Amino acid sequence: MSKMIKVSDLNFSYQNKKVVKNINFSINEGKSLAIIGPSGCGKSTLIYLLAGLLKPNQGTIKINGDIINNIRKKTGVILQNYGLFPWKTVFANVALGLKVRNYDKKKVDKIVVKALEKMGIDNLQNKYPAELSGGQNQRVAIARSLVLNPDLLLMDEPFSALDALTREEMQNLILKIHKENKLSYLIVTHNIDEAVFLGQEIAVMKDGEFIHMIDNPYFGDLKLREKEEFFELCKELRVMMSEDDLL
Ligand SMILES: Nc1ncnc2c1ncn2[C@@H]1O[C@H](COP(=O)(O)OP(=O)(O)OP(=O)(O)O)[C@@H](O)[C@H]1O
Ligand SMILES: [Mg+2]
Repeated sequence: MSKMIKVSDLNFSYQNKKVVKNINFSINEGKSLAIIGPSGCGKSTLIYLLAGLLKPNQGTIKINGDIINNIRKKTGVILQNYGLFPWKTVFANVALGLKVRNYDKKKVDKIVVKALEKMGIDNLQNKYPAELSGGQNQRVAIARSLVLNPDLLLMDEPFSALDALTREEMQNLILKIHKENKLSYLIVTHNIDEAVFLGQEIAVMKDGEFIHMIDNPYFGDLKLREKEEFFELCKELRVMMSEDDLL
């Protein structure tokens, strides 16, 4: 199976503070990785490196075989604060990336409406972000990424500001999109349940290093949260993290 991401001996420092230390991992095409770790361990920095927004001090990041040293068109990035423009409508926010790429208006309209329908927010297209709930704004942010037809989605704690039910709804949505489009993704989270529900593999991060890599054989089941295996794996991860002083 071909590799979507291959990270080799990755190191990064801010000034003289080492934040990412010798990280190695790969994600095959169409697979997913959840990264879990405490505040300040370097998760967002790793996302910025993968997105090409920061440059490694040492080591390489390859996506689809190409070394990343700049932003990449087919990588979608979703950050915690949604990154929506408050002065633009939902429609205009979702259309933004297409307009920048000089698509003609008819084509933009068609793609945007389709994406909004898919996210169940086509009735909100003339609203502004301030008029929407957290879950609705997050749907807009996802729609904005998806219209660019990414083959890889990088998400940095995308659902942490949402209430528990909305969070589950959004997790289901990501899993459905992943299944339908064979989309590879990486999600950073603080939340053990989220890591087990959305990670085909789960990396535990501490002080800039990946200290565990766990295979999740139950990944992909939309009913997983109701099953014994789910609780078992959550418990296993919790015990592991507690032994590493991460909880
Ligand atoms: N621009 C910066 N300049 C200097 N140090 C930084 C900068 N950004 C982050 N850091 C430091 O690097 C470390 C890792 O930060 P990072 O944001 O990657 O952590 P994180 O795992 O995403 O944390 P959180 O879970 O709180 O979002 C922290 O100690 C942080 O203070
Ligand atoms: Mg962070």
